Amino acid sequence: MDTTARAAVAGLLLFLVFLTGIWLSRRGRPLKVGISTLHKLVGLAAGVLLLVTIYQRNRVVPLDAAEWIAIVVTSLCFLGTVVSGALLTSDDPMPVAVLRVHQVVPVLTALSSGATLYLLLGL
Ligand code: HEM
Repeated sequence: MDTTARAAVAGLLLFLVFLTGIWLSRRGRPLKVGISTLHKLVGLAAGVLLLVTIYQRNRVVPLDAAEWIAIVVTSLCFLGTVVSGALLTSDDPMPVAVLRVHQVVPVLTALSSGATLYLLLGL
């Protein structure tokens, strides 16, 4: 996959995670299993694409300090998104703060993923 296609697919996947997340939220509780699974799978696909991009770019040209910083920040954002998402998936009622975290951290995840791809792919 060339650079432009990779950036476009990553952008599309991230957009789809937001779309399925909002769809999931709007359908209310109990969560719709199909939408919830789709939401997680698209999120997983975005994470895997990012990891593969990091691995392949590092093999061609070793990553520099700024790129590593972007990768660490993005990984922490992904972790926060996955943990808050996993808590929201539970049937037990969660404090509203968890939903707030899962509304804010995904935006940070998308922004930092964009910045990481920008640095790594030299767009
Ligand atoms: C890059 C990854 C992800 C992004 C960008 C993302 C984004 C979102 C967004 C924007 C919402 C809608 C929030 C709202 O409308 O108020 C949402 C809802 C939700 N997400 Fe995610 N999410 C991601 C990953 C995950 C993962 C990995 C899980 C589960 C392990 C998860 C579970 C949920 C659940 C359960 C809801 C519904 C919350 C509710 O309304 O109670 N998400 N997500």
